[in-house]
Amino acid sequence: MTTLNFPNGFLWGTATAAHQVEGANDNNDWWDWEQTPGHIRNGDRSDVACDWWKGERYRADFDLAKSLNQNAHRLSVEWSRIEPQEGVWNADAIAFYRRVLGALRERGMTPLVTLHHFTNPRWLAQKRAWETEAVVPLFERFAAKVVQALGDLCDFWVTINEPFVYAFSGYSDGNWPPGKKDFFLAFRVLANMVRGHAAAYHAIHRVQPHARVGVAHHFRRFVPFDPNSAFDRWAAGLRDFLANRLFSLALADGSLRFPMSLGGRVPEAMGTQDFIGVNYYFTERVAFDLRHPGLLFTRPVVPAWPKDAPPFAGEVDPRSLYLFLTECAREGKPIYITENSIFDLGDTLQVNYLVSHLAETHHAIADGAPVKGYFFWTLVDNFEWAEGFATRFGLYHLDVPTQTRTPRLSAEIYARIARENALADDLISRFGQ
Ligand code: FCB
Repeated sequence: MTTLNFPNGFLWGTATAAHQVEGANDNNDWWDWEQTPGHIRNGDRSDVACDWWKGERYRADFDLAKSLNQNAHRLSVEWSRIEPQEGVWNADAIAFYRRVLGALRERGMTPLVTLHHFTNPRWLAQKRAWETEAVVPLFERFAAKVVQALGDLCDFWVTINEPFVYAFSGYSDGNWPPGKKDFFLAFRVLANMVRGHAAAYHAIHRVQPHARVGVAHHFRRFVPFDPNSAFDRWAAGLRDFLANRLFSLALADGSLRFPMSLGGRVPEAMGTQDFIGVNYYFTERVAFDLRHPGLLFTRPVVPAWPKDAPPFAGEVDPRSLYLFLTECAREGKPIYITENSIFDLGDTLQVNYLVSHLAETHHAIADGAPVKGYFFWTLVDNFEWAEGFATRFGLYHLDVPTQTRTPRLSAEIYARIARENALADDLISRFGQ
C-alpha cells in the first residue's frame, strides 16, 4: 500500500441541507408533512433539528468542521424563509444566510450553496409546486434574488439537489410530500426541474458571470439480481436509465425523453453545468416483478441490513463510485462529490466506507477524472426526511434534546485525511476493505 495524495487545493468538507439542520422551519411542505402520524419513522418531527436557526449553532458546528481541518462546506438556503409569501422577500432570512456564509468565510471555508434541497414554500406547494411549468419563472426569480443577496459571499452554486429522488419520492413512491403515486406525473415534475434548473442557471450567470453552477445528481448503480435473467437485466437497465441518465441527457442535448415527455425539447438546458455534482451512496440489485407496475415492473432487492437500516439502503460498493466518476469525466467538466456516506447505527460502518470510497476517488483522479472536492454527508446527525432521527449519517452523533455533539471515529479519521490531503497507507490497510 502507498499513501494516496490528493491534488493541491482539493476541497474537503461536509454537506447539509436547511430543513435537516436549521429547525423551526415551519413554512414549507415538509413541516406540514411531518405533522401527520405515519409519515415519519417513530413519529419524529424536524422541530429544533440541529438548532441552526434560533440558536445559531451553525457557528459552533463550523468550529467543529474547522477543527476537522475542513476547508469547505455545502449547505442549502431555505426558499420558504427567503420568500415566505409569493413575491415577498424576508430581510431577516437574508441577513441570517449572510451571517452563515460569513461564518464560513471567517473560518477560511469555501461555501457551496444549494438553492433547492427537497423543500418548497407552503405557498408554492399550494400551487402544486413542480407539477406545472408555472414554477419555472418563480424558481428563476428566487435564484436571481439569492445570488444578488449573497453573491459577494459565494460564487459556487447547486441549483437543485437530486431531481430524480425528489420527483420519484414525492410523486411515484409517495413516501415524501405531496405523497402522490402517479408515475407519469413524477416525470412531468422531473421535466419541470430540467426547465427550472436551466432558467436558474442562466439567471445566476446574469447576476454573477463568473459563478460556477451545477446540479447535485444522485447516482445509484443498478445491477440485475440474476445476471442470467433477461428480465432482471432489463429491469436494472430501465432503472439506470430513469434514475441516472434521463436528467443528465436533457442537460447534454436539450431533449426531454420519454417518460418526461413525448419529444419535448428544452434547448436552453444544453450545456448548463459548469461542474458535475455527484451524490453517491449505494448499489442496488433489481429484479423484474409484475407486482410493481409503479416501478415499471422492477423490484429492489435489499441486502440483509439490521432492521434499523433505512429502506433506501443498498449494497456498499466503492467501485461503482469510481465508475460514475470516470463516466462523468467524459463530459469534460470539473467534478465535485457533493454527497457520499453511509448511515451509522453505532460507530462501525462509516470509517470503512469513507476510506474505501476515497481510495476509489483517488483511483478515478489518477485515471484522469477531474475530481476537485469531496463533501461527506454529513457533519452532525440531522433530520433524515422520512427516517426522522432514526437514521444517522453524521461525523458527530447528536443527542437531540440536549443538542450535544459527540464525535464518531469517522470524524477523527476524516480530520487526518483532510490535514494530510492524503489517504495514508496505514489508513488504507486498517479501514480500506
Ligand atoms: C440524500 C439527500 C440528503 C440526505 C442523504 C442521506 O439523498 O440529498 O439530504 O438525506 O441522502
